[in-house]
Amino acid sequence: MSSATTLRFPKDFFWGAATAAHQIEGNNVSSDWWRREQSSNSGLKERSADACDSYNRYEQDIRLLAESGLQYYRFSIEWARIEPEPEHFSTAQILHYRDMIETCRHYGVEPMVTLNHMTLPYWFAEQGGWKSADAVSLFNRYVRQIAPILYDVTYVCTINEPNMVAMTRGGKEGTNMTAGALPVPDLEIGQTLVEAHKGVCRILHEIYPSMLIGWTVATQAFHAMPGCEQETEEYAWPRENFYLDAAKGDDWIGVQGYLRTFIGKDGPQPIPDGAERTLCGWEYFPPAIGIGVRNAWDRAGHIPVIVTENGLATSDDSRRIDYTFGALQGLKAAMDDGIDVRGYIHWSLLDNYEWGSYTPTFGLVSINPDTFERHAKPSLHWLGEIAKSGIVEEPVR
Ligand code: FCB
Repeated sequence: MSSATTLRFPKDFFWGAATAAHQIEGNNVSSDWWRREQSSNSGLKERSADACDSYNRYEQDIRLLAESGLQYYRFSIEWARIEPEPEHFSTAQILHYRDMIETCRHYGVEPMVTLNHMTLPYWFAEQGGWKSADAVSLFNRYVRQIAPILYDVTYVCTINEPNMVAMTRGGKEGTNMTAGALPVPDLEIGQTLVEAHKGVCRILHEIYPSMLIGWTVATQAFHAMPGCEQETEEYAWPRENFYLDAAKGDDWIGVQGYLRTFIGKDGPQPIPDGAERTLCGWEYFPPAIGIGVRNAWDRAGHIPVIVTENGLATSDDSRRIDYTFGALQGLKAAMDDGIDVRGYIHWSLLDNYEWGSYTPTFGLVSINPDTFERHAKPSLHWLGEIAKSGIVEEPVR
């Protein structure tokens, strides 16, 4: 008879959930994504519209997270709201995000703040976005404006998934955020993103020497088909490893992982027949995050690792729990092998706008689209209890 597995995480290991501004706030009207959603040939199934109305309801979101037992809330500041027109910085919007930080503090939640999560001010995208000559200085200028509200924030993420940004050319292509579905990444954008990131690290460290700053990279657990190790190396470098290498010297590296991708002689291979699929169409593959963490640790020079995103798009919440348990098993095994992982942040707190569609539900909390009422799912309670004890019991049904 096989006995159920129990995982024990260190006492100081932290647990949380993540969101991103454009995906939950609603009416992010000055952003490039909003404009794209309005166009008749956007290629998108749905528009973000009011999203989860979290611009107004963030207090409820943070309260739900806190009440579950989770300790960290990773959310993003929306550049398009802070600077809706070039050099017009909105004090009211800056104070809005200050209020989010204070609301976290009020509920005993640690805020982890992302400075850029995919979306850009429309005016910036129009002038070329990350390809424009002054991209680095414009991003750094925006960060200088918001720096004063970050004085009590410990963890700051500069740019979310720079590798996906380079593959989607700043959001202009594709909504299926997998390497296999996207064009070859633009390493010129990649280099600009590295400079923008390092610039922000310098600016913020000068003001706040003890702030812990990093960026969060999408990892896709590239698997070599037999005899295709070299091809896999070459495929992975511009899509993942370049960005992990660039994190050397940072305070931490954020790892995000959901799926795996097989690489053959001619590139990414289709998902094997019969494999279980998520609502994104991705393969159900819980070990992804453990693999991503191991690779990040080696490439980024053994700096502390934080899982900043991991989760499952499903309408079956018990499957979300199964997936997360499997993911935590892989993570714990990596930690047992000596990798310094500080925390686990689940994607996502809310069922949100998944870059073109509301169908892939990743949330620990569901949203009634007519009333914006929030309903905690069993998985929120499950993860919250884990946060309180550090103990993960294998789900038994
Ligand atoms: C990541 C993004 C996040 C969300 C998840 C599912 O690539 O950072 O916004 O879309 O995937």
